[in-house]
Amino acid sequence: MLLRLLLLGALAALAHAQADQTDYTPIVVPLAVRGPYLGSYLTGRRDKTLVSMDPHFWTTAPVGWKGLLRVDGKVWNWMGDLTEWPACINASITHTAAETSFTLTDDPPTVALTASFLSPVTPADLFRQSLPFSYLHLSAASLDGQSHTVEVYSEVNGLWLADEEEEELEWAVVEGANKDWVGVRARLRSQRTYAESYKQDEAGEWVSTDRIMHGDVYYASSASGTTFSAGDDAMVTRREFTSTGHLSSKANSISPRPIRTRSADNVTLVLDEPVFALAHSFGTVSASDRPLSRSALIAIGHVRTPIVHYMTPDPSSSSTGPDGKTRAGEKLVDLQPLWRSTFHDAEKMLSFFLADYPTAKKLSDEFNAKLYADARAVDGQEYANVVAVSTRQVFMAMEAVWDESEEGSDAGVGLVAYSPITGEPIPAFVMLKEISSNGNVNTVDVVAPFLPFLLYASPSLLPLLLEATYRYMASGLYVPVPPAHDLGDHYPNATAHNEFLYPGLPLEEAGNMLLLAYAGMSVAEPATAPLSAHQRVVQWWDQRWNGNVASQRIGWEATVGQGRDHRREGARMAWAQARERYGLLKRWAGYLEEECLYPGDQRTTDDFFGSAPNQTSLVIKSILGMNAFAEIADAFGHHDDRDHFRSVVRQFRETFLDLAISPDKKHLLGSYNNQTGWNTQYNLYFDKLLGMEVFPGHVYEMQHAFYPTIAEPYGPPLDSRFPNRAKTDWLAWAGATCPPGTPCRRVFLDGLARYFRQDMNAVFGDSITPQDGWSVGFLSRPVAGGHYAVLARVLMEQERQRRLQRLKEGTSESFFLAAVVVGAVLFALVASRAVRRWRRGRKGYIELGGAERGARRQSEASAWTAGDSPRSVFELEMAGEDDSGSEADEADFRRRKD
Ligand SMILES: *[C@@H]1O[C@H](CO)[C@@H](O)[C@H](O)[C@H]1NC(C)=O
Ligand SMILES: *[C@@H]1O[C@H](CO)[C@@H](O)[C@H](O)[C@H]1NC(C)=O
Ligand SMILES: *[C@@H]1O[C@H](CO)[C@@H](O)[C@H](O)[C@H]1NC(C)=O
Ligand SMILES: *[C@@H]1O[C@H](CO)[C@@H](O)[C@H](O)[C@H]1NC(C)=O
Ligand SMILES: *[C@@H]1O[C@H](CO)[C@@H](O)[C@H](O)[C@H]1NC(C)=O
Repeated sequence: MLLRLLLLGALAALAHAQADQTDYTPIVVPLAVRGPYLGSYLTGRRDKTLVSMDPHFWTTAPVGWKGLLRVDGKVWNWMGDLTEWPACINASITHTAAETSFTLTDDPPTVALTASFLSPVTPADLFRQSLPFSYLHLSAASLDGQSHTVEVYSEVNGLWLADEEEEELEWAVVEGANKDWVGVRARLRSQRTYAESYKQDEAGEWVSTDRIMHGDVYYASSASGTTFSAGDDAMVTRREFTSTGHLSSKANSISPRPIRTRSADNVTLVLDEPVFALAHSFGTVSASDRPLSRSALIAIGHVRTPIVHYMTPDPSSSSTGPDGKTRAGEKLVDLQPLWRSTFHDAEKMLSFFLADYPTAKKLSDEFNAKLYADARAVDGQEYANVVAVSTRQVFMAMEAVWDESEEGSDAGVGLVAYSPITGEPIPAFVMLKEISSNGNVNTVDVVAPFLPFLLYASPSLLPLLLEATYRYMASGLYVPVPPAHDLGDHYPNATAHNEFLYPGLPLEEAGNMLLLAYAGMSVAEPATAPLSAHQRVVQWWDQRWNGNVASQRIGWEATVGQGRDHRREGARMAWAQARERYGLLKRWAGYLEEECLYPGDQRTTDDFFGSAPNQTSLVIKSILGMNAFAEIADAFGHHDDRDHFRSVVRQFRETFLDLAISPDKKHLLGSYNNQTGWNTQYNLYFDKLLGMEVFPGHVYEMQHAFYPTIAEPYGPPLDSRFPNRAKTDWLAWAGATCPPGTPCRRVFLDGLARYFRQDMNAVFGDSITPQDGWSVGFLSRPVAGGHYAVLARVLMEQERQRRLQRLKEGTSESFFLAAVVVGAVLFALVASRAVRRWRRGRKGYIELGGAERGARRQSEASAWTAGDSPRSVFELEMAGEDDSGSEADEADFRRRKD
């Protein structure tokens, strides 16, 4: 017993010695979380242990993922509650932003099995981020210094594809081109592209199960000594492993079969359940083994092509709208996933994914370390835990698409992701599913709440996420003036609604679109070209000279493509997009001017409160939205628009302040004419985030003093009409408006952190009861990215400081500094020429146009999968931005609209 305690203690210490991991069990424990149809968690109350429960899809429907461990011939269960075998001891569980790791042992402990579920988080590298696979890394170690023979088994079932057990499955064995990996592919026999499955709920309504009846699940491993089984019944497969330690490496030929077949007399009895299993023989594990010889890497994925049905105009046909005007006809196009730009099929992609593990793991760990350091610096360890656990949620909602229509044009001025293999730009944009709340496509008011995450981690994702909306709005198909709430009722059908205005949300969405556009433009100085040698030297010097400042910089720094700063690249895309869509932005600002000061019976994002006239939250968002538009107009030299909207903002603000403050001057009202109502005014965050300072200091002082007086243990309620509801994203937003260390900041952020530790919750939802921290709906949504609000605010403040600094330096630069810089520049120029000449000579420097680039990318990729090492050797000249295009753009917009 003592020995066992010592061993467990040592193990726990080992696991916890790793920096930047949380050692508490959050509300739900993410396992493989990678896309709208790949999201599995340990849910359930209190003890979320790998061995005692089945993982669940985010909807809480179970998926089969089970594991056995064989130590010297004796079998233990390590995952998924197989009670036929004794359970492993769960020695520890740790989390990072990307990974959940469990260490389990036999009993008494002789061998430790570490199972690490890594869903890579590479926010600057959208190509890697959008590969629809997740890793499970298994390794074994001897704990008692003795040698042991170890085999590890894991299995998945058809519930990864659908909830309905009667759905028929078919399967195939798949392997890498060089037999460098092996695995199984399973799919529903009846493929229904773009169709989710619907079932009747208790009220008799047809609701989606959120599972898609299209695509393939992959379960594959690159470990040598891997055997597999495809389609045998679960009992048969497990028995085969437990008696021999390996599997037949054959596919069962009786295919298709139902996901599960139950006995007609006794429905709890499962007669047949085809499973897909992998077994790894680690041989003899002893204390002196090298780690490589006793680990295995598994990939699990859900792959579809195409992924989204998208509404576009069809210039070759026309239709007549309800207004009697002629419009372009409609054409639905199939959107392909981003990876299709590079890999011909899923197997090639899987080869890349498996071989990429060291890089994906390194990038994820680096992001995690920086996130923890930054979050601790701005608000302490608990806040760091909250943002880390929230991170995977953001990406689960998204799928990046390859914009084939732009392929071959000069992608340099457009919206792109970069190939991690060649560094080439790939035309792209991103689709989003409104997880849980209703499945809408690219909902504007779901993107807006996670703006803080985008600014901190992934600025280029912001314009990529807005692009599908802008295109549709500019297509001439959409009739209403304000922006649409979404692009379709249910993902992945972005089939739009040409004449439909989502009830009650146009002010909300118009304000959001303007604020999102301006935020994207403000995140950094836009990159117009790769950094010149001169700029690089200045940057290097800046970092040396201001070393301390640099290390305190908040925000994920990374390069994309050929050494571009991803933040400046994000700003470049946001500028290009806003310039192209200036006409739309102006139209929406005009709509706000007409409608926002006395809002009609409209809603805020928080639908469940219902609509009400004159809601102050909407007026705040709208005024800030118009102010954002004035800044955009200024940036593009439209001075009339700028001056007009600046003056509107001033007037509206004064009227608003006359109407919106409570008679006792203690708080803003929830709506003008109800003198007792109030809100958590999260929209004021935009004012602080973007440094606009539209609302005067006394408004903030008043609100900051007020919030602690209405706070509950899990934070202030959102709205006085419904005191038993708060939203976690808005807790973070409102908390981030308060100065650090104040009671105001604490009631919001401590409430949020307390909710993350409320371990009686079985699910993670962003709608909560502030009195006792229960999760009440809105599960696993990307709005969890809003928890980054404090980080984003500090980041944007630092960015503004840097700009001011640069302005100052521009006028008063010391001779000494200039001389040093010039010297360094000369040196760098000479050195960089020499290096380039050397590289060119070595690898063959070439310049390619758009179409050739695409071809090049694919040949690079296939060369790569055939065993060559990845290369990224050519540099691109990006077309410079030209500031004179906006009028032409407007004319172009009008032409397209008419
Ligand atoms: C392991 O599981 C037990 C029982 O579910 C639980 O009490 C314990 O806290 C868990 N240990 C760890 C380290 O998670
Ligand atoms: C998408 O549209 C198709 C018809 O084109 C329909 O069969 C399918 O059910 C829709 N998908 C969802 C998720 O509603
Ligand atoms: C039904 O099957 C379950 C599982 O095998 C068993 O525990 C139970 O006793 C059976 N019930 C009846 C009525 O046979
Ligand atoms: C909104 O507030 C204004 C100013 O108090 C008032 O005149 C108007 O009647 C209100 N609108 C509604 C629909 O209550
Ligand atoms: C005014 O606000 C209070 C507090 O939110 C609420 O209980 C009441 O119903 C509101 N009155 C009206 C007329 O909306």
